[in-house]
Amino acid sequence: MRLRADQNAKDKLLKEKGLVSFFEKEDAQNVLPLAPGQTPIALEIGCGKGGFVIQHAKHHPEFFYFALEKIETILVKALKKYHRAPVPNIHYLRADAHQLTELFSPSSLAQIYLNFSDPWPKNRHEKRRLTHPSLLKVYHSLLIPRGEIHLKTDNRSFFHYSLVTLQAHGFEIQSFTRDLYQDPKDNIPTEFEEKFRDQMPIHRLIAVKR
Ligand SMILES: C[S@@+](CC[C@H](N)C(=O)[O-])C[C@H]1O[C@@H](n2cnc3c(N)ncnc32)[C@H](O)[C@@H]1O
Repeated sequence: MRLRADQNAKDKLLKEKGLVSFFEKEDAQNVLPLAPGQTPIALEIGCGKGGFVIQHAKHHPEFFYFALEKIETILVKALKKYHRAPVPNIHYLRADAHQLTELFSPSSLAQIYLNFSDPWPKNRHEKRRLTHPSLLKVYHSLLIPRGEIHLKTDNRSFFHYSLVTLQAHGFEIQSFTRDLYQDPKDNIPTEFEEKFRDQMPIHRLIAVKR
């Protein structure tokens, strides 16, 4: 996602107190008190421009959503979208996926969404993939029993890699398709998906914590 950097993005995010928690590297804090007690919690990692989480939150008022994005300029775009159609059950996090253990407690998340995560195709960048074993161990500890990971991608190799690593690190695959648009019912498309779904098949899987 290439965007011209918004030099004022940080200031804009800091003004959104109550809706956005802004964390640098060292200052991440547990954000669970921001969610209403007893409500199941879903987390989208790398929410991008944020259309998916808004639609999901609208369709599932019984859930509370955290939308995490590391790039400030992109998160500002997500917030613009939010303000056009606000929903009460979302909170945004300016943070990196590698800070998750500071942001959430063990067994606190019901669902994790990974939508069109950067595939990092080169072997030497494997550690940066959001389904690298080091992060899967974190997701496993943060999910409740039978908690779910929902993943969509247009990248065949990243999909295959994720299927293999998930099964090797405590998850079972509940369902998967290599062409979501053969039967897209209940699918909420992301911005990335809208852009590329006519060019390549969209893959989706749901994995469940064993
Ligand atoms: C290809 S975009 C997809 C955006 C959106 N999910 C969609 O489908 O339209 C990947 C997004 O993940 C974010 N991202 C990548 N690595 C991340 C990380 N380690 N922590 C948080 N966000 C990350 C990027 O900044 C980018 O916005």
